[in-house]
Amino acid sequence: MSKLDIAIAGEINLDLILYGLPEQLPTERELLASGFSMTLGSSSAILAHNLAALGSRVGFITKTGDDACGNMALVRVAASGVDLSRVVRAEGAASGVTLILQHERERHILTYLGTIAALRFEDLDLAYLASARHFHMSSLFLQRALSPRVPELFQRMKAAGLTTSLDTNDDPDDRWDGVLEQTLPYVDVLLPNEREAMKMARADDLETALVRLSEKVKTVVVKMGSRGATAVRGGQRFTAPAVKVRVVDPVGAGDSFDAGFLHQFLRGADLPACLTYGNLCGAFSTTACGGTEAFCDQAAMRAFLAHAG
Ligand SMILES: Nc1ncnc2c1ncn2[C@@H]1O[C@H](COP(=O)(O)OP(=O)(O)OP(=O)(O)O)[C@@H](O)[C@H]1O
Ligand SMILES: [Mg+2]
Repeated sequence: MSKLDIAIAGEINLDLILYGLPEQLPTERELLASGFSMTLGSSSAILAHNLAALGSRVGFITKTGDDACGNMALVRVAASGVDLSRVVRAEGAASGVTLILQHERERHILTYLGTIAALRFEDLDLAYLASARHFHMSSLFLQRALSPRVPELFQRMKAAGLTTSLDTNDDPDDRWDGVLEQTLPYVDVLLPNEREAMKMARADDLETALVRLSEKVKTVVVKMGSRGATAVRGGQRFTAPAVKVRVVDPVGAGDSFDAGFLHQFLRGADLPACLTYGNLCGAFSTTACGGTEAFCDQAAMRAFLAHAG
């Protein structure tokens, strides 16, 4: 395989998505969903899959259980051309899984962590990661086994000459400190959503959050759902509107935005072009179930990206 554009270390699991269930869930009742999808889930795996679908050369190190769910998730990622040669299998351990109850506006998200949180520093082939041009990590706060050494991991990737990016996603403990503060000095591109940006900056509004975060990270990119995305670099501010689409579900829109943004970033595109492509990919993701189903259809993807672009 030729030189990797990007190496990703992180989690993998399937998403089981049920549509049309009541928002109130009484116990001891048979509640019927109107639709169901079993699809590739997890921020890191969705990003890896969609980046490869866009044409980036992607290497992904992750850990799964030696079970049907783990196998199925890996098959899905491999189908888009991601290099999985350094994947670690945890004998006897169960893979994680996420159950999503997608309601009209909001959703219940129920996760069994399993091997999602089990990736360790010792599991990583550092030479392989460092052979890429760029290193990315998603779901920082789910990486419980790896977490204490994440700052060192980013530091090593920077020392090896890679550019780096981080999408923390939510902090289930709502602390937003420790490993995050220690990692930020080695992050080139930070990719939170609006709520996460305010949480990590301990700010009540987005403007204050952007000022504070851009003092720590060279490029801060904030995803704003149906309002698109905004970014700050070198004191300059850029904003790009979302693309109008018929939304099936928003699962993985943030990860798909990351895929589009990083795909262009790695080709040396300027910040407005990266934002525009991120918005395109985020919107495209919402047109089908889950985070990767839209990107499985190469012809539809090319048509959407060309037409909307
Ligand atoms: N309803 C929508 N219409 C058009 N584009 C959307 C919509 N929702 C999301 N997007 C696109 O996807 C991007 C990411 O969405 P969002 O802001 O929800 O990220 P996120 O909260 O990180 O998502 P995730 O739950 O996947 O982590 C947005 O910046 C936008 O470009
Ligand atoms: Mg997100």
